[in-house]
Amino acid sequence: MTHEIIKIEGMTKVYDTGEIQVAALNSIDLTIHKGEFISIMGASGSGKSTLMNILGCLDRPTSGHYYLEGVDVMEKSDNELSAVRNKKIGFVFQSFNLISRTSALKNVELPMIYGKIGAEERKERALELLKNVGLADRSHHMPNELSGGQKQRVAIARALANKPQIILADEPTGNLDSQSSVEIMEIFTQLNRKEGNTVIIVTHERDIAEFTDRIITFKDGNIIRDEYTREVGQC
Ligand SMILES: Nc1ncnc2c1ncn2[C@@H]1O[C@H](COP(=O)(O)OP(=O)(O)O)[C@@H](O)[C@H]1O
Ligand SMILES: [Mg+2]
Repeated sequence: MTHEIIKIEGMTKVYDTGEIQVAALNSIDLTIHKGEFISIMGASGSGKSTLMNILGCLDRPTSGHYYLEGVDVMEKSDNELSAVRNKKIGFVFQSFNLISRTSALKNVELPMIYGKIGAEERKERALELLKNVGLADRSHHMPNELSGGQKQRVAIARALANKPQIILADEPTGNLDSQSSVEIMEIFTQLNRKEGNTVIIVTHERDIAEFTDRIITFKDGNIIRDEYTREVGQC
């Protein structure tokens, strides 16, 4: 029950732009257990996206350790890291990042092509995933024929394509109206409660963070608060 799915020790990230060095994370320690539902808050520039990109194996820390299911990802080659990402992590972005000239269905199928899943199973699974986010009747729509909330639901279906245990979402409701934001948070809640996914979201809004069980606050590349939103055992 207390499986440490993510463990970070003394993790630092420095962006070296040539002229100046920006310390985006200052020796962070963080442990996340399998099945947690977490939000990350903090002012713009506090290091939230930097952390998410490293957690999602899209980037590497400058120093320190990142253990993903006990394996130090620092020791992996770029190719190995891509494989880990494709299998274990579903990433959702603020701006959806859908491929614009491609249907909702094909967008959801894409990670499965990289995952080398056969055409028939791919399509079947993509349809099922779209159905689960309430978009069964939108599978042949192009992204520009969908509302913001619908685009984000396609992006979530795509993130789930290879059945990752961990879902990372960087400001997933940042471009959405409040009604769509609630719908998106309800989907994340379901994924956590029903499917047992470990879900980590970045948000600026306290209302959105309140959906989760644990709120971690960043300031200037440091964790300044780590709190649980409800009593243990309460739901
Ligand atoms: N690719 C980059 N190159 C240089 N500096 C960066 C880069 N990405 C982020 N930063 C800097 O790192 C700090 C943290 O940024 P970020 O993680 O994006 O913060 P947040 O997501 O909390 O707004 C900021 O000072 C930002 O300007
Ligand atoms: Mg950010």
